[in-house]
Amino acid sequence: MPAKTILITGGAGFIGSHLVRLMVNNHPDYRIINLDKLTYAGNLANLKDIENKPNYRFVRMDICDFEGVLELLRSEKVDGIIHLAAESHVDRSIKDPFTFARTNVLGTLSLLQAARLYWESLPEKYEGKRFYHISTDEVYGSLRLTHPEGIEPPFSTTASSGTHHLAYGEEFFREENKYTPHSPYSASKASSDHFVRAFHDTYGMPTIVTNCSNNYGPYQFPEKLIPLFINNIRHRKPLPVYGRGENVRDWLYVEDHARAIDLIFHKGEIAETYNIGGFNEWKNIDIVRLLIRTVDRLLGRGEDEDMNLISYVTDRPGHDERYAIDSSKLQKELGWEPSLQFEEGLEKTVRWYLENQDWLDNVTSGDYMNYYEQMYSQR
Ligand code: NAD
Ligand code: DAU
Repeated sequence: MPAKTILITGGAGFIGSHLVRLMVNNHPDYRIINLDKLTYAGNLANLKDIENKPNYRFVRMDICDFEGVLELLRSEKVDGIIHLAAESHVDRSIKDPFTFARTNVLGTLSLLQAARLYWESLPEKYEGKRFYHISTDEVYGSLRLTHPEGIEPPFSTTASSGTHHLAYGEEFFREENKYTPHSPYSASKASSDHFVRAFHDTYGMPTIVTNCSNNYGPYQFPEKLIPLFINNIRHRKPLPVYGRGENVRDWLYVEDHARAIDLIFHKGEIAETYNIGGFNEWKNIDIVRLLIRTVDRLLGRGEDEDMNLISYVTDRPGHDERYAIDSSKLQKELGWEPSLQFEEGLEKTVRWYLENQDWLDNVTSGDYMNYYEQMYSQR
C-alpha cells in the first residue's frame, strides 16, 4: 500500500515534468498520477525516462472536466494535489485571454471543488490532505528600476536571509505585497490564487500557495525567451528583443524549483504563501548576449560572431519592467537554497538544447504531439 497518492496536474509541461521525475524517483513509496490535457505545451517525451516506473501513471484529462477529475480523485484515493496545469505564456494571453481565464481560473476552481467534495466525503475529511497551488511572481505586478543615490544598477544588496546579490532596484516582491497583475496571464493566475485561499478560509481546505520567479532549464517550450533564442542562434535566425531589452527578470534553474516544491509540499505550513527565487536578476539584453557567446563558443564559432542577430522589435504591451523575488522566508524557515549559479545553470541549459536538437526539432515541427497516440493508445 503506497504511503501517499499524489496528483500532479500539468506534469507533461516544463516545470511539471521536472517535478514528476523528482517525485517518482525520490518517493518510490508514493503513487504519482500525472493529469495533463496535453495542450501544445504538454509533451510526454519529457518523461520518457520514467514512464514505465511502477509508481507512475499518466491520465489525459482537462482540469475543467469536473466530473472526470472527481471520479479520478475517488478511484485513485488521492491524498495530495500539486497543481501546475495552466496556460503559461504571457504573449499568448495577450492574443487569447479567454483560454487563460478558462484553464487558469475555471480549471483551478473545478479542481478545488472536486477535491473539496471528495475529501469532505471521507471519514477523516481533510486530515492528511493537501492542495498545493503553483503560482507566479507576476501576480505582484512590476517593480521599478531605481537608482539609489549615485549608484547605477545593478548594485550590491543584502536580503533579510543574509544572501548578498546584485539588484536593479530597492523594492522586492514579498509574500505580503498586494497583487497588481498587468497581463491577462498574471490576472488569471492572481484570480486562481484568490480561489485557493478562499477554499482554505471558507471550507478549511489545507492549501499552500507558492509564487516563483522565471524558470529556465531543459524541456522548456521554445516560445519562452531562453529556449527560443538558443534555437534561433543555432539556426542563425533573428532574435526578437522586445523594446530596448532593459526589462529585468529573476531567473531560477527549474530543478531548484522542483526541489523547493517537494520540500514545501512536505514541510510547508498550511495556509501559508512562500516566494521561490534565487536572488538572480538579469536584464534581458545581458542574457541575450551571454546566450550568443555561450552558443557560439560551444559550436566552435568565432567570438561574438552572432551578435548581429539581435533585432529590437516592438515592445510587449503592458511589459512588466522588473521582477525581483525575495525568497528569504523559504530560505530561513525551510532551509531551501538554489543549488546553481546562473552562469553555470545557463551553460548546462545551452548544452542540453544543443545536445538534444531532436527534442527541439520534434517540438518545432509538431511531431511531439503524436507521442501520446504512439505510446498510450494501445495500453
Ligand atoms: P507549461 O506551459 O510548460 O506547461 C503547462 C502544462 O499544463 C502543459 O503540460 C499543458 O498540457 C497542461 N495544461 C494546460 N491546460 C490544461 C488543462 N486545461 N488541463 C490539464 N492540463 C493542462 O508551463 P510551465 O512553465 O511548466 O508552468 C507550470 C506552472 O508553473 C504554471 O502554473 C505556471 O503559471 C507556473 N509558473 C511558471 C513559471 C515559469 O517560469 N515557467 C514560473 C512561476 C510559475
Ligand atoms: O516570472 C514568472 C513567469 O516567467 C511565469 O509565470 C511565466 O509562465 C513565464 O512564461 C515567465 O514569463 P515572462 O513573460 O517573464 O517570460 P518570457 O520567457 O516570455 O520572457 C522573458 C523576458 O524576455 C520578458 O521580459 C519578455 C522578453 N522577451 C521574450 C520573448 C519570448 C523578448 O524580449 N523576446 C521574446 O521573443
